[in-house]
Amino acid sequence: MNTVIDNVDYGPLAQLIGKWSGNTGLDIAPDANANPDESPFTNTLVFTTAGITENAEKQILVAIKYHHVVIKAESGHIFHDQIGHWIFEPETGNIMHSLTIPRGVCLLAGGTYETVDDKTIFDVKATAGSDSYGIVQSPFMLKNAKTNAFQMKMTIKSDELSYHEVTSLHIYEKNFEHVDTSTLQRVTYEQD
Ligand code: HEM
Repeated sequence: MNTVIDNVDYGPLAQLIGKWSGNTGLDIAPDANANPDESPFTNTLVFTTAGITENAEKQILVAIKYHHVVIKAESGHIFHDQIGHWIFEPETGNIMHSLTIPRGVCLLAGGTYETVDDKTIFDVKATAGSDSYGIVQSPFMLKNAKTNAFQMKMTIKSDELSYHEVTSLHIYEKNFEHVDTSTLQRVTYEQD
């Protein structure tokens, strides 16, 4: 696959570009007793190029940005909206994933990618309290629904993308593993 777009080599991120859609998602979220509340969902992911960045005249990064919209199957309403960047450092092969959700939570996860046969697997993690790959959250969330960690594995094989993410929460005075999984198909390679 050609990984160069507008003279920028996006490396393993190039294959993400375009629009994806999936209707087999499953969300496991806490309810008021911190019991698992399971909701099937549909979702779309749109990835577009974000160019090259140079840091401190030393570090070269390439990035793509995305918008993830998740709709609860039962109600047809948006119940999760997420924006962020996937970032690749060609010199080291390191991957970063920044994300923001409208609950007052942002994070920067770090990790790597590997290619196994015809699959590319991205694996990133953020941990609360870390000064680098950490989590920033509002005073309300810190007190009532703290995110302690986030781990995401995303696998791309041609026109199929799947992800498995675990958001480790402390909510309703208990620890709770908030898990989201979905498989999406590419709708178009075009950028919006
Ligand atoms: C497909 C992805 C996701 C979906 C569909 C989703 C959906 C949900 C739902 C339905 C709840 C329960 C809300 C309620 O009880 O009113 C929830 C709670 C929560 N989610 Fe997510 N979520 C997703 C990803 C994430 C991510 C990536 C993070 C942060 C890294 C996150 C952080 C939280 C937090 C902190 C809560 C606790 C708030 C609460 O229940 O009061 N979620 N999520």
